[in-house]
Amino acid sequence: GKGNYRHFMEKELHEHPAVIGDTLRQYVDPATRAVARPALPFDPATLPRLWLSGCGSAFLVCNTARYWFETLARLPVDCDVASELRYRDPPLTEGGAAMFVSQSGETADNLAAMKLLRSGGQSLVSVVNVPESTMARESDTTLMTVAGPEISVASTKAFTAQLSVMACLAINFARARGAIDAAEEARLTAALLEVPEHAARLLDSSTEIEALAADIKDARDVLYLARGSLFPIAMEGALKLKELSYIHAEGYAAGEMKHGPIALIDSSVPVIALCPSGPLFEKTASNLQEAAARGGRIIAFTDEDGAPALRRFASRVMVLPKVDPFVAPILHAIPVQMLAYHVAVLKGTDVDQPRNLAKAVTVE
Ligand code: M6R
Repeated sequence: GKGNYRHFMEKELHEHPAVIGDTLRQYVDPATRAVARPALPFDPATLPRLWLSGCGSAFLVCNTARYWFETLARLPVDCDVASELRYRDPPLTEGGAAMFVSQSGETADNLAAMKLLRSGGQSLVSVVNVPESTMARESDTTLMTVAGPEISVASTKAFTAQLSVMACLAINFARARGAIDAAEEARLTAALLEVPEHAARLLDSSTEIEALAADIKDARDVLYLARGSLFPIAMEGALKLKELSYIHAEGYAAGEMKHGPIALIDSSVPVIALCPSGPLFEKTASNLQEAAARGGRIIAFTDEDGAPALRRFASRVMVLPKVDPFVAPILHAIPVQMLAYHVAVLKGTDVDQPRNLAKAVTVE
C-alpha cells in the first residue's frame, strides 16, 4: 500500500535513497571500492561500439549513460528511442553490443528493437527491474535494477536505479579499457556511494520544492535547460512535468537556446536550469543570463559554489549538495521529479494515473 503517503509516486520518490543504495550494493564491492565484473556477453575491453535503447524515461537514462560511456570509458555509443531504432535499419558493427533499458521489461518498441539488433548479430544486455520479464528472457544477459515494484505511472525510483547501474558499468568499462586507474575507480565509486545520503537530504527539502511548484503551476510553458550529462535530466524534468501536470514543457541543451527556443522567452515562461559548478558552469550560466535578459524567470538548481553567480539574475536558486560532476545527473533527477510531483498535487491532477498513459506500453 501507500503507507502514510498521499500517492504511490510520493512513496516511491522517498525510496530513492534505499533503491540507489541497494542497486549500488549489487555492483560495487564496498571494501575495495571496485565495480564487480558484471557477467556480460562481450568483453568491454575490446567492444567496438555499443547501442543503447529505451523509451520515455528509460531513453533518457540511455542518453545520460552515453555521456558516461563516451567520456569515461572512451567507448563509441549510439543511442536512440526504441520506436525509431526498430525501423532505422542502421549499419551495425561486427562484434558490437546493445543494451536495452526498461523498468517493466515489456515495452513493445524496445522488444522489437532488441529483435532487430539480435538479427544484426549484436550481443544483447537488458537492464530491467522485473527479472521474469520478456526482455530479461530474450537478452543474452540481464542486469537487474533493485528498485522493487514501481506502481506510479511516472517512473521515479526505477530511473535512479537505472542510472546507478549504468554509472557502475561506465566505471567498469573505463577500467577494462584502461581509460582510468584503480584510484580513479575508487574515487568515482566513493562519489556514487554518497548519493543515497545526499538523496535523503534532498527529500527533506520538500518545502523549498513546493515553493518552486507554486511558482510554475500556472505557467503554460516551461523550459528546462542544462548541458552535458545533465541535459537528459533536463528532458526528464520536462517529461515528468508534462505527464503529471499537463503543462507544456521542453528540455533543451542550454547551448541550443539561441537557435530557436529563446524566441519563446518572456516573463510568463519559467526557465528551469540544472547548473551545478563544474567545467560547463560558465557556459550554462551565460545562456541563462541571456534568457533572464529577455524577461525569463530563471529557477536554478546548483550547488554552493554555483549559487552566488546565479543569484545575480535568477529569481530562485535551490542549492543542492556539491558532488562530483559524474554523479550530478543522479542527484539532479530527484528535485526535478519532486517538482513535477508537487505541481501535479497543486493542480489536483491524477498523480499516480495521469490521463492517457499506461505503466507499461506493451503495444506499438
Ligand atoms: O517500462 P519501461 O521502462 O520500458 O517504460 C518506458 C516508458 O514508458 C516510461 O519510462 C515512461 O516514459 C514513464 N511514464 C516516464 O515517467
